[in-house]
Amino acid sequence: MKIQKLTVENRPKVYALLQRAFPGSDYEAGLVQKLHEKGKPIHEWVCIHVGKVIAYIAFTNAYHGSVICGLHLAPMAVAPDFQGKGVGSELLRFALRQEAIKTQPLFVLGEPAYYTRFGFEPCILPVCPFDRNNTHFLGMRNTTIASFVVGYEPEFTAVPLPPAPQGKKRRGR
Ligand SMILES: CC(C)(COP(=O)(O)OP(=O)(O)OC[C@H]1O[C@@H](n2cnc3c(N)ncnc32)[C@H](O)[C@@H]1OP(=O)(O)O)[C@@H](O)C(=O)NCCC(=O)NCCS
Repeated sequence: MKIQKLTVENRPKVYALLQRAFPGSDYEAGLVQKLHEKGKPIHEWVCIHVGKVIAYIAFTNAYHGSVICGLHLAPMAVAPDFQGKGVGSELLRFALRQEAIKTQPLFVLGEPAYYTRFGFEPCILPVCPFDRNNTHFLGMRNTTIASFVVGYEPEFTAVPLPPAPQGKKRRGR
């Protein structure tokens, strides 16, 4: 398995991967496609295994008003056949070591039990516009003391998450 920056040629493979990793939702694939089409700033890497894209991670700007205040980790996905084998952890740890990421304040809306393994911590401020009470909103190197609603690229929308199936953990955005 190798990790590399996403190339333009591999973009359709990422859209297909996101469709498979988030069954029943077009949101994540559509979101990344729109970010690409609009040329939004995005840091993104993929895991390639025997010529196939098996995992994807992206970071986009986080905003305090019009000022960039860090990066949002979203979305992240591993192909269903490869989930639970350490691929997601390896990709995330790789991304967190990269120059563009390693000194930035980071935010993620996701499962705390998963993301706290990598150094993310529950985050009270800033306020996430997609998460009531910030219960699934975490930060890293976040020193915010002002109260504000953190901005996302406008392609991110408040699509309600489906309820987590019983016994399964709720996914993030
Ligand atoms: C969440 C996801 C990225 C994790 O990648 P992965 O390669 O499957 O995870 P890893 O194999 O590196 O880590 C597995 C560990 O994380 C735990 N884990 C995986 N998903 C989890 C979740 N949603 N909540 C809590 N823990 C989770 C597993 O229980 C496992 O724990 P263990 O090591 O104690 O057995 C992947 O499962 C996935 O793509 N899921 C569907 C899409 C999604 O939910 N994306 C994340 C939100 S954007």
